[in-house]
Amino acid sequence: MKVLILGGTQFLGRHFVEIALNQGYQVTLFNRGQTNNSLYPNVEKLVGDRVKGDLAALKGRKWDVAIDTAGYFLNLPQLVQETAELLKDSVSTYVFVSTISVYAEFQTNADEMLPLYPINQEPPQEMNAEAYGTLKAMAESVVQKVYARRGLIVRPGLIVGPYDNTGRFTYWIRRISQGGEVLAPESPELPVQYIDARDLVQWIYRLILTHKNGVYNAVGPDYYLKLGQFLATCQQVTSSNATFTWVPREILESYKVEHWQELPLWLPPNLQNTFPCLSNSKALTNGLNFRSLTQTIHDIWRWDLVEQLEYASGLSRDKETAILQFMDKNNIIYHSY
Ligand SMILES: NC(=O)c1ccc[n+]([C@@H]2O[C@H](COP(=O)([O-])OP(=O)(O)OC[C@H]3O[C@@H](n4cnc5c(N)ncnc54)[C@H](OP(=O)(O)O)[C@@H]3O)[C@@H](O)[C@H]2O)c1
Repeated sequence: MKVLILGGTQFLGRHFVEIALNQGYQVTLFNRGQTNNSLYPNVEKLVGDRVKGDLAALKGRKWDVAIDTAGYFLNLPQLVQETAELLKDSVSTYVFVSTISVYAEFQTNADEMLPLYPINQEPPQEMNAEAYGTLKAMAESVVQKVYARRGLIVRPGLIVGPYDNTGRFTYWIRRISQGGEVLAPESPELPVQYIDARDLVQWIYRLILTHKNGVYNAVGPDYYLKLGQFLATCQQVTSSNATFTWVPREILESYKVEHWQELPLWLPPNLQNTFPCLSNSKALTNGLNFRSLTQTIHDIWRWDLVEQLEYASGLSRDKETAILQFMDKNNIIYHSY
């Protein structure tokens, strides 16, 4: 299979490249050559800047599939329109990596029919969570219009794994591996969904090879995972002596702890019991399967030990200590279950 990856060198794209190479697919990358440019010296690299409309390197070529990982651009619908149209007669399938953030509101166990952010409007001018979801919904619509049944749109939830440049899931593994008293948000009962980037990519290639099209939520696991179980598994895998102090929402809010970024997996009240509870039935019926949580945590932990990247996400040790001391001083022992 001849695969064109628009992107390919940050996080998810690297898994698209590496799994393709392992499978013996022929890979071409298209990007600016700025991010991790020394990777994949034996892979064909086409250079261009989508923001500048510089797509000349893509002209006059043929691939079986184009995989578009474009994410965080304010003019995302336009960028996707330009590549989608240019490649219309050059590829059989166009895969767009979208997100569950396209849904305007969440409901427990909702499937792909959940209403999206409205797309018949001017694109947002500033990036925030709603703008991101709106832009992705607009870009999905572009792919559907240009490719119809040749388009494949995948909506992942939190993507995790080696190379993750956000550090969100990794925060918990790193923090727990360091041991001691760990601040945990609210309740061990909170729901968690995530998808290992490698399971996601392997499944997308299977969808491509079996000529599947349409829209799919891509969230895991295939059982109801609770935060307490996730944190305990991090503790077991990293053989750490961590203990968990569950801190009530009001206290976290009084310390202005930022949902999702500072305490990954912790969400505002309107999302906490719905956002990480989407249905993955369609994906499971169409062949998505998952490695174990233990395996995912182990691989991220080993990768993080080597890389030791700095992340914008995660709670600082100073803030964690301050909140835990407040809990201790006020004798708050909090069990919400
Ligand atoms: N992380 C999550 O939890 C999560 C959840 C749901 C969905 N998603 C989606 O998953 C995707 C993840 O993306 P990723 O960053 O991991 O993808 P990636 O393909 O690994 O990296 C992004 C690529 O875009 C290229 N690029 C950036 N600006 C460009 C430009 N102006 N022109 C051409 N190429 C450009 C970069 O290379 P150069 O800089 O060299 O150009 C890089 O190769 C996004 O679509 C995101 O919305 C993520």
